[in-house]
Amino acid sequence: MKRAFLLIIIAGIGIIAVQCSSNQQPANSNNVATADSNAGKAKTDTVVVLAGINSKGIGRFKNIQLTHPLDEKMASNGQDVYQTKCFACHKLTKELLVGPGWYGVTDRRAPEWIMNWITNTKVMLDKDLAAQADMVMCLIRMPNQDLTDEQARDVLEFMRKNDGKK
Ligand code: HEC
Repeated sequence: MKRAFLLIIIAGIGIIAVQCSSNQQPANSNNVATADSNAGKAKTDTVVVLAGINSKGIGRFKNIQLTHPLDEKMASNGQDVYQTKCFACHKLTKELLVGPGWYGVTDRRAPEWIMNWITNTKVMLDKDLAAQADMVMCLIRMPNQDLTDEQARDVLEFMRKNDGKK
C-alpha cells in the first residue's frame, strides 16, 4: 500500500520535471545555439516568465549597475561561492537539478531580481509571482543561503559569465 503511494508520488514528480524542463528549453537540445535566440524565447514565454524579466523582485536592490566588460575577479569569487553553496542544487546548464539550471538565468531575470532573490529568498517566495512559479515546478523552497551583498553580487557576475556575457 505504502509502496503504491510512493510510486504515484514518484510518477507525479517525473511528470512535473518533464513539464518543467520542456518549459525552460526551446525545442533544441543544443545548449549553446539557442542561448541568445529571441525567437526561441518568445515561444517559451509565459506571462510569468515575462513578469520575471521585467520585475526587479522584492528587496533592497533597485538599481544594479552592470559593467562591460564583466568583472573577472568578481566572477571568479562568484564561482567559489557557487561551488560551496549552490552547486548541490543548481547546474550550470539549463537542466533542472533541485532548482533550475542557471544557464540563461540572466536573460530570464533582471539583475535586481537575482540579487533580491539571493538575499531575500523567503520574502520573495511568499510574495513574488515568478519565484512562486519556480517553486511550483521545483517542489521545494530554496533555503536562504545567507550570502553577504558582496557575495551575491559576485555570484551574479559568475552567472553573467556562465551565460557568455561580455
Ligand atoms: C537546497 C537546494 C538549493 C540551494 C543550495 C540553492 N538553491 Fe537556488 N533554487 C532552489 C530552488 C528549489 C529554486 C526554485 C525556487 C524554489 O522552489 O524555491 C531555486 C531558484 C534559484 C534562482 C532562480 C532561478 C530561475 O531561473 O528563476 C536563483 C537565481 C538561485 N536559486 C540562486 C541560488 C544561489 C546563488 C545559491 C547559492 C548561494 C542557491 N540558489 C542555492 C534550490 C536551491
